[in-house]
Amino acid sequence: MLETTALASSFGIEVTGVDDLNDDAVTARLTEALKWRGVLLFRGLNLDDEAQLAFARRLGTPVQPLPGQEIMTVSLDPAVTRSAEYLKGTFSWHIDDTTNDIPAKATVLTCRHVAAVGGGTEFASTYAAYENLPEAERKRYEGLRVLHSFEAAQRTVYPDPTDEQVARWRHLPTHESSLVWERRDGRKSLVVGATADHIVGMEPHESRALLDELQAWTTQERFCYTHDWEAGDMVVWDNTGMLHRALPYDPSSERLMRRITIAGDEAWT
Ligand code: OGA
Ligand code: MN
Repeated sequence: MLETTALASSFGIEVTGVDDLNDDAVTARLTEALKWRGVLLFRGLNLDDEAQLAFARRLGTPVQPLPGQEIMTVSLDPAVTRSAEYLKGTFSWHIDDTTNDIPAKATVLTCRHVAAVGGGTEFASTYAAYENLPEAERKRYEGLRVLHSFEAAQRTVYPDPTDEQVARWRHLPTHESSLVWERRDGRKSLVVGATADHIVGMEPHESRALLDELQAWTTQERFCYTHDWEAGDMVVWDNTGMLHRALPYDPSSERLMRRITIAGDEAWT
Protein backbone atom coordinates (compact mmCIF):
# COMPACT_ATOMS: atom_id res chain seq x y z
CA MET A 1 0.00 0.00 0.00
CA LEU A 2 1.34 3.42 -0.97
CA GLU A 3 2.29 5.45 2.07
CA THR A 4 3.85 8.87 2.51
CA THR A 5 6.00 10.34 5.30
CA ALA A 6 7.00 14.02 5.60
CA LEU A 7 10.69 14.79 4.98
CA ALA A 8 10.59 18.33 6.37
CA SER A 9 7.81 20.25 8.08
CA SER A 10 6.82 22.40 5.13
CA PHE A 11 7.64 20.20 2.17
CA GLY A 12 8.91 16.87 0.83
CA ILE A 13 7.61 13.35 1.29
CA GLU A 14 9.09 9.90 1.21
CA VAL A 15 6.93 7.47 -0.73
CA THR A 16 6.92 3.81 0.28
CA GLY A 17 4.91 0.75 -0.62
CA VAL A 18 4.56 1.42 -4.34
CA ASP A 19 3.76 -1.89 -6.05
CA ASP A 20 3.44 -0.48 -9.55
CA LEU A 21 4.87 2.95 -10.45
CA ASN A 22 2.99 2.83 -13.74
CA ASP A 23 -0.47 2.48 -12.30
CA ASP A 24 -2.87 5.36 -13.12
CA ALA A 25 -4.11 5.79 -9.56
CA VAL A 26 -0.50 5.88 -8.28
CA THR A 27 0.45 8.48 -10.90
CA ALA A 28 -2.51 10.63 -9.90
CA ARG A 29 -1.52 10.52 -6.22
CA LEU A 30 2.13 11.24 -6.95
CA THR A 31 1.28 14.16 -9.24
CA GLU A 32 -0.84 15.72 -6.52
CA ALA A 33 1.81 15.04 -3.88
CA LEU A 34 4.51 16.62 -6.05
CA LYS A 35 2.39 19.71 -6.50
CA TRP A 36 1.81 20.27 -2.79
CA ARG A 37 4.94 18.77 -1.25
CA GLY A 38 7.57 19.72 -3.86
CA VAL A 39 9.94 16.76 -3.37
CA LEU A 40 9.19 13.04 -3.63
CA LEU A 41 11.75 10.52 -2.38
CA PHE A 42 11.71 6.82 -3.29
CA ARG A 43 14.47 4.72 -1.74
CA GLY A 44 15.98 1.62 -3.28
CA LEU A 45 13.93 1.51 -6.47
CA ASN A 46 16.93 0.63 -8.67
CA LEU A 47 15.24 1.76 -11.88
CA ASP A 48 17.14 1.33 -15.13
CA ASP A 49 16.94 3.99 -17.87
CA GLU A 50 13.92 2.44 -19.49
CA ALA A 51 11.95 2.23 -16.24
CA GLN A 52 12.97 5.78 -15.24
CA LEU A 53 11.80 7.05 -18.63
CA ALA A 54 8.52 5.15 -18.44
CA PHE A 55 7.81 6.71 -15.06
CA ALA A 56 8.92 10.21 -16.14
CA ARG A 57 6.64 10.06 -19.20
CA ARG A 58 3.69 9.53 -16.89
CA LEU A 59 4.45 12.90 -15.27
CA GLY A 60 4.75 14.78 -18.57
CA THR A 61 6.93 15.19 -21.62
CA PRO A 62 10.66 14.72 -21.08
CA VAL A 63 12.76 17.64 -22.34
CA GLN A 64 15.29 16.72 -25.04
CA PRO A 65 18.43 18.87 -24.64
CA LEU A 66 19.72 17.06 -27.72
CA PRO A 67 17.31 15.46 -30.21
CA GLY A 68 16.48 11.93 -29.16
CA GLN A 69 18.17 12.31 -25.78
CA GLU A 70 15.66 12.35 -22.96
CA ILE A 71 17.92 11.16 -20.19
CA MET A 72 21.28 12.59 -19.26
CA THR A 73 24.21 11.68 -17.05
CA VAL A 74 25.13 13.90 -14.14
CA SER A 75 28.80 13.42 -13.33
CA LEU A 76 31.75 15.76 -12.88
CA ASP A 77 34.12 13.40 -14.67
CA PRO A 78 34.92 14.74 -18.18
CA ALA A 79 35.57 11.16 -19.30
CA VAL A 80 31.93 10.32 -18.47
CA THR A 81 30.10 13.38 -19.83
CA ARG A 82 31.03 16.36 -21.97
CA SER A 83 28.88 18.51 -19.66
CA ALA A 84 31.18 17.87 -16.67
CA GLU A 85 32.52 21.43 -16.66
CA TYR A 86 29.08 23.08 -16.68
CA LEU A 87 27.76 20.61 -14.15
CA LYS A 88 30.06 22.11 -11.51
CA GLY A 89 27.30 24.75 -11.50
CA THR A 90 25.15 22.20 -9.64
CA PHE A 91 27.12 23.10 -6.48
CA SER A 92 25.35 26.48 -6.37
CA TRP A 93 21.72 26.87 -5.33
CA HIS A 94 19.68 27.05 -8.52
CA ILE A 95 16.49 26.41 -10.43
CA ASP A 96 16.98 24.54 -13.73
CA ASP A 97 16.01 26.15 -17.05
CA THR A 98 15.35 29.68 -15.80
CA THR A 99 16.51 31.05 -19.15
CA ASN A 100 13.75 29.24 -21.05
CA ASP A 101 10.41 30.92 -21.79
CA ILE A 102 8.71 27.99 -20.13
CA PRO A 103 10.72 26.51 -17.27
CA ALA A 104 10.87 22.76 -16.74
CA LYS A 105 8.13 21.54 -14.43
CA ALA A 106 9.98 18.76 -12.64
CA THR A 107 13.19 16.77 -12.51
CA VAL A 108 13.49 13.01 -12.02
CA LEU A 109 16.94 12.10 -10.68
CA THR A 110 18.19 8.59 -9.92
CA CYS A 111 21.42 7.65 -8.22
CA ARG A 112 23.57 4.95 -9.83
CA HIS A 113 26.82 5.48 -7.87
CA VAL A 114 27.38 7.53 -4.74
CA ALA A 115 30.44 9.63 -3.92
CA ALA A 116 32.59 8.23 -1.13
CA VAL A 117 32.29 11.57 0.68
CA GLY A 118 29.59 14.24 0.29
CA GLY A 119 27.39 14.52 -2.78
CA GLY A 120 24.00 14.81 -1.14
CA THR A 121 21.37 16.98 -2.81
CA GLU A 122 19.86 19.85 -0.90
CA PHE A 123 16.46 21.43 -1.54
CA ALA A 124 14.97 24.72 -0.34
CA SER A 125 11.28 25.56 -0.75
CA THR A 126 10.79 28.89 -2.50
CA TYR A 127 7.07 28.68 -1.66
CA ALA A 128 7.74 28.42 2.08
CA ALA A 129 10.35 31.17 1.80
CA TYR A 130 7.84 33.51 0.18
CA GLU A 131 4.97 32.62 2.47
CA ASN A 132 7.06 33.37 5.56
CA LEU A 133 8.24 36.81 4.44
CA PRO A 134 6.95 39.73 6.49
CA GLU A 135 4.05 41.51 4.78
CA ALA A 136 6.07 44.73 4.27
CA GLU A 137 8.76 42.83 2.36
CA ARG A 138 6.25 41.05 0.16
CA LYS A 139 4.89 44.47 -0.79
CA ARG A 140 8.40 45.73 -1.54
CA TYR A 141 9.04 42.90 -4.01
CA GLU A 142 5.82 43.32 -5.98
CA GLY A 143 6.57 44.33 -9.54
CA LEU A 144 10.33 43.64 -9.35
CA ARG A 145 11.83 41.69 -12.24
CA VAL A 146 14.94 39.50 -12.43
CA LEU A 147 17.22 38.88 -15.38
CA HIS A 148 18.46 35.27 -15.42
CA SER A 149 21.59 34.20 -17.22
CA PHE A 150 23.72 31.10 -17.58
CA GLU A 151 26.72 33.40 -17.14
CA ALA A 152 25.64 34.47 -13.65
CA ALA A 153 25.34 30.80 -12.61
CA GLN A 154 28.71 29.80 -14.07
CA ARG A 155 30.42 32.78 -12.41
CA THR A 156 29.49 31.33 -9.01
CA VAL A 157 31.86 28.41 -9.80
CA TYR A 158 34.33 30.14 -12.13
CA PRO A 159 34.76 33.65 -10.66
CA ASP A 160 37.77 34.39 -12.92
CA PRO A 161 36.70 33.03 -16.29
CA THR A 162 38.73 33.13 -19.49
CA ASP A 163 37.45 35.26 -22.37
CA GLU A 164 36.60 32.06 -24.18
CA GLN A 165 34.45 30.80 -21.28
CA VAL A 166 32.59 34.12 -21.10
CA ALA A 167 32.02 34.09 -24.86
CA ARG A 168 30.54 30.58 -24.66
CA TRP A 169 28.26 31.53 -21.75
CA ARG A 170 27.05 34.68 -23.51
CA HIS A 171 26.11 32.64 -26.52
CA LEU A 172 23.16 31.33 -24.53
CA PRO A 173 19.93 33.28 -24.12
CA THR A 174 18.99 35.25 -21.01
CA HIS A 175 15.47 35.53 -19.67
CA GLU A 176 13.50 37.89 -17.46
CA SER A 177 10.99 36.76 -14.83
CA SER A 178 9.07 38.40 -12.03
CA LEU A 179 10.88 38.11 -8.68
CA VAL A 180 7.67 36.82 -7.12
CA TRP A 181 6.00 34.33 -9.40
CA GLU A 182 2.27 33.88 -9.03
CA ARG A 183 1.21 30.71 -10.76
CA ARG A 184 -2.13 30.01 -12.40
CA ASP A 185 -3.24 28.24 -9.23
CA GLY A 186 -2.41 31.31 -7.12
CA ARG A 187 0.66 29.88 -5.36
CA LYS A 188 3.51 32.34 -5.08
CA SER A 189 7.24 31.73 -4.82
CA LEU A 190 10.55 33.57 -5.06
CA VAL A 191 12.52 33.17 -8.30
CA VAL A 192 16.10 33.41 -7.05
CA GLY A 193 19.28 31.28 -7.20
CA ALA A 194 22.54 31.28 -9.16
CA THR A 195 21.01 32.29 -12.51
CA ALA A 196 19.56 35.49 -10.98
CA ASP A 197 21.93 38.02 -12.56
CA HIS A 198 20.34 41.27 -11.44
CA ILE A 199 17.09 43.01 -10.62
CA VAL A 200 16.03 44.94 -13.69
CA GLY A 201 16.64 48.68 -13.33
CA MET A 202 18.19 48.48 -9.87
CA GLU A 203 21.62 49.87 -9.02
CA PRO A 204 24.09 46.89 -9.28
CA HIS A 205 25.27 46.83 -5.65
CA GLU A 206 21.76 47.15 -4.31
CA SER A 207 20.56 44.47 -6.71
CA ARG A 208 23.32 42.01 -5.71
CA ALA A 209 22.68 42.67 -2.02
CA LEU A 210 18.94 42.04 -2.39
CA LEU A 211 19.40 38.84 -4.42
CA ASP A 212 21.98 37.54 -1.90
CA GLU A 213 19.68 38.41 1.00
CA LEU A 214 16.71 36.65 -0.60
CA GLN A 215 18.75 33.57 -1.39
CA ALA A 216 20.05 33.46 2.19
CA TRP A 217 16.46 33.81 3.42
CA THR A 218 15.20 31.03 1.15
CA THR A 219 17.97 28.61 2.09
CA GLN A 220 17.55 28.89 5.86
CA GLU A 221 17.57 25.48 7.50
CA ARG A 222 13.84 25.65 8.25
CA PHE A 223 13.01 25.72 4.53
CA CYS A 224 15.57 23.03 3.56
CA TYR A 225 15.84 19.29 3.17
CA THR A 226 19.02 17.33 2.35
CA HIS A 227 18.91 13.93 0.72
CA ASP A 228 21.86 11.61 1.33
CA TRP A 229 21.83 9.25 -1.61
CA GLU A 230 22.17 5.54 -1.79
CA ALA A 231 22.51 3.90 -5.17
CA GLY A 232 19.00 3.02 -6.39
CA ASP A 233 17.22 6.03 -4.88
CA MET A 234 15.03 8.29 -7.00
CA VAL A 235 14.05 11.88 -6.17
CA VAL A 236 11.50 13.91 -8.13
CA TRP A 237 11.14 17.64 -7.50
CA ASP A 238 9.07 20.61 -8.53
CA ASN A 239 11.77 22.48 -10.43
CA THR A 240 10.34 25.97 -10.17
CA GLY A 241 9.32 25.67 -6.53
CA MET A 242 12.55 24.24 -5.10
CA LEU A 243 16.00 25.74 -5.19
CA HIS A 244 18.42 22.83 -5.26
CA ARG A 245 22.15 22.13 -5.23
CA ALA A 246 24.59 19.26 -5.00
CA LEU A 247 26.63 19.24 -1.81
CA PRO A 248 30.41 19.18 -2.38
CA TYR A 249 31.99 15.95 -3.64
CA ASP A 250 35.24 15.11 -5.35
CA PRO A 251 34.86 15.65 -9.11
CA SER A 252 36.94 12.53 -9.66
CA SER A 253 34.59 10.43 -7.52
CA GLU A 254 32.35 7.81 -9.09
CA ARG A 255 29.15 9.69 -8.27
CA LEU A 256 26.83 9.15 -11.18
CA MET A 257 23.20 10.16 -11.55
CA ARG A 258 20.73 9.90 -14.42
CA ARG A 259 18.44 12.87 -14.90
CA ILE A 260 15.25 13.51 -16.85
CA THR A 261 13.60 16.93 -16.88
CA ILE A 262 9.88 17.20 -17.53
CA ALA A 263 8.73 20.05 -19.76
CA GLY A 264 6.67 22.75 -18.08
CA ASP A 265 3.35 24.10 -19.31
CA GLU A 266 3.36 27.49 -17.62
CA ALA A 267 5.47 30.43 -18.80
CA TRP A 268 7.24 32.73 -16.36
CA THR A 269 5.29 35.87 -15.63
C1 OGA B 1 21.23 19.01 -11.95
C2 OGA B 1 21.41 19.08 -10.49
C3 OGA B 1 21.94 17.93 -8.44
C4 OGA B 1 22.82 16.82 -8.00
O1 OGA B 1 21.62 18.00 -12.56
O2 OGA B 1 20.67 19.97 -12.50
O3 OGA B 1 21.14 20.11 -9.94
O4 OGA B 1 22.80 16.56 -6.79
N1 OGA B 1 21.86 17.99 -9.85
O5 OGA B 1 23.54 16.24 -8.82
MN1 MN C 1 19.85 21.37 -11.26
